[in-house]
Amino acid sequence: MQYNESEFLIETEVPDEELIISRTNLEGMITYANEAFCEISGYEESELIGKPHNIVRHPDMPQTVFADLWKTLQVKKQWSGVVKNLRKDKGFYWVEAIVSGVHKNGELVEYKSLRTPISYETKLKYQKQYDKMRADNGEKVRKIIYE
Ligand SMILES: Cc1cc2nc3c(=O)[nH]c(=O)nc-3n(C[C@H](O)[C@H](O)[C@H](O)COP(=O)(O)O)c2cc1C
Repeated sequence: MQYNESEFLIETEVPDEELIISRTNLEGMITYANEAFCEISGYEESELIGKPHNIVRHPDMPQTVFADLWKTLQVKKQWSGVVKNLRKDKGFYWVEAIVSGVHKNGELVEYKSLRTPISYETKLKYQKQYDKMRADNGEKVRKIIYE
């Protein structure tokens, strides 16, 4: 597919009447995505199940944010943060995510994430913060590989 810069700049607004939900196994492979998640990410359910959750990783997200997420989960705590995600069409959407463990009979079996919309001001604040974090850590904007 040819890189189309204008598509990359298009934001999809997250509806505030629905929760965007996904679950992963303990390795971060998607095991469940609700309809709102499919809609907002632009993928069919069948394209998401079994894929690593970084399928929606946006190149503007600093690595340290996800390192912090996994570190927090490993000590059995809930993580929350602001995330810019990449749609299948290379557009993007911003959410506040709460990620935590799913337990069965007291045993950790999966992780789940619930996402809600954030304000324009919050998006601006985090875009600037993440740009600075990537610059400070010597991270470049990752190249997206188009097939
Ligand atoms: C339940 C759950 C939900 C996640 N949701 C997202 C998400 O919406 N976007 C994202 O970029 N990473 C999400 N992640 C983190 C990814 O697994 C991954 O660590 C991240 O995308 C960084 O990718 P990388 O490991 O290739 O650097 C989630 C992880 C878990 C456990």
